[in-house]
Order: sequence, then structure tokens, then C-alpha cells
Amino acid sequence: MARILVCCLVVGILILMDDIQAQKKNQTIDLAKLAKILRRPSLKTRVIGGHVTTIDKLGGYLVAMRYYNNFICGGTLIRDLIVLTAAHCFENRNVKEGWTVEGGISRLTDSGVRRGVKDIIKSAEFRMTTMNMDVAVVLLSRPMVGKNIGFLTLCSTPLTTGKHLVVSGWGMTHPDNTGPDQLLRTVTVPVIEKRFCRNVYRLSAAITDSMFCASVLGKKDACTYDSGGPLVYDRQVCGIVSFGIGCASRRYPGVYTDVHYVKPFIEKGIKALLTRRSGRTKIKAPKY
Ligand code: ARG
Repeated sequence: MARILVCCLVVGILILMDDIQAQKKNQTIDLAKLAKILRRPSLKTRVIGGHVTTIDKLGGYLVAMRYYNNFICGGTLIRDLIVLTAAHCFENRNVKEGWTVEGGISRLTDSGVRRGVKDIIKSAEFRMTTMNMDVAVVLLSRPMVGKNIGFLTLCSTPLTTGKHLVVSGWGMTHPDNTGPDQLLRTVTVPVIEKRFCRNVYRLSAAITDSMFCASVLGKKDACTYDSGGPLVYDRQVCGIVSFGIGCASRRYPGVYTDVHYVKPFIEKGIKALLTRRSGRTKIKAPKY
């Protein structure tokens, strides 16, 4: 379980462990063989199977979320004032004033439309220890409008095994990396059968009703710093990048928050954020 919690830090190590373990099945490892595994091109060049893209090609819905100028997570514009992201992005980062959200950028160094954060609502059911209900909605200081800005609707298509969806972000493209990537990348991944996913994760994490799994094992996946970003089907946001053991692991799929399942939270959250903003009535924060 601890491994899940530090998923964003130990990704590289876990990938190697995974590969070494796979190797162990048939033979013991000697150093030469180990070096070969590490040098294997599929690992070195694996962009977790995706390709570089631009924000306009993507549709402008992805935003970069920074905390005191450090890139932390992706997010999805679902209204001009509202961003959907993962709750775990805010763990130990609770100062609203520290956050900025930037839209309309392809490279992380580009300058796009930058907004402050006025309010954050995380699901009250979210727990870092289980990653259950890893979802949050964010109210921007001003509407996000301008060049290369677009929006997604919430998923209304039920997810079935094998359906292909598109995930994108500035996440790591190499297990040795330590920070996010400067270039925006995207990759198409299929939904993986829940029973299978539950089973592979059973010793490390419970795959709850608020989660589903997607990836091409050993080939295509999201990675650290893709968190909070959307998994998209037909201009709808259906998943939120949440966690995984390793990236593009041969054993462990990527785990996403099921937007369809958490829709009641998102809709109530949006209402609460927008009502608070207009300040027409002083309502008590609803419980989630
Ligand atoms: N927890 C990671 C983050 O904060 C996301 C990891 C996604 N991993 C994966 N294999 N799909 O960026």
C-alpha cells in the first residue's frame, strides 16, 4: 500500500523491479543481463507509448496546475470557471493562493492563459491511503477564455472493456526522469477488465467502485505528473489519472477515477463552487 502512496516518487524503481521480477522467473540475474534489461530500447525510448502533440490539436481542454510555480498535475476544463482534477494533487498543498492554473499551452514553458484558484472541493470520501474517490473540482479566479482553450463534457458513455480512450499530459516519459516533461504527449489506451485489474492489484490496493483501469500492459500508459489529467472518449472526460504501480508496467495497469461514477460529486461540487462565488446566499458548504 505504501508503494501506491508514493506512486509518484518510486515509479522508476518499481518499473525496474517489475522487469527484474519478470526476468527472475526463468533465470537468476547476472550483472550483464541486468545491464541489458536497463539498456533495452523499449524501456529507454518508451514514451509510455504515446506521441508529442499540441494543445490546439488536443482540443484545448487540458490545463497545467502549478503550486508555487512547480508543475504538479494536469486538469480538465469542464466550464470556463471550473477545472476537474484528482484530489491527491492537493495532498499537503492546501494553500489556495499557492496554486495557478494555465490553459492553452503545449510546452510547459509556454505562456498561455493563467488563472488563480479561488476554491477547491475534494471529495470528502477521498483517502490518500486507499486513493478511493480521487476527484476534486476547482474554481478559477476568473473565467478561462482565450486562444486554444476548450472544454469537455462529463462522461455519459458507460465504459466497457476494450473501449479506447485518449490520455494526455506532461507526465514522465522515461522511468529515470525526475520531473515532468516539457512537451505535451498523448496516448490511446483501452479499458482493462475490472476483475483482472482487481486481481493484479489485490496485494497492494483495492480497486474500488470509483476506479477503473486502462493501459496496454508493457507499452502504453500514463505516468507520474499526468495525474489529474483526463482520459477522454468522444470529447467527454471519462477518467482522471489517479495512480499506478510503475508506468506501462507489464503487470499493473494505470488506474483512473471513474468520472461516470463520481458524477454526483462533481455536479454538486460545481453548484457549490458557483453559488459560493456569486455569494447571493450564504450557504453552508455541503458535505460530500
Ligand atoms: N500518481 C501519479 C501522479 O501523481 C499518476 C500515476 C499514474 N500512473 C500510471 N501508471 N498510470 O502523477
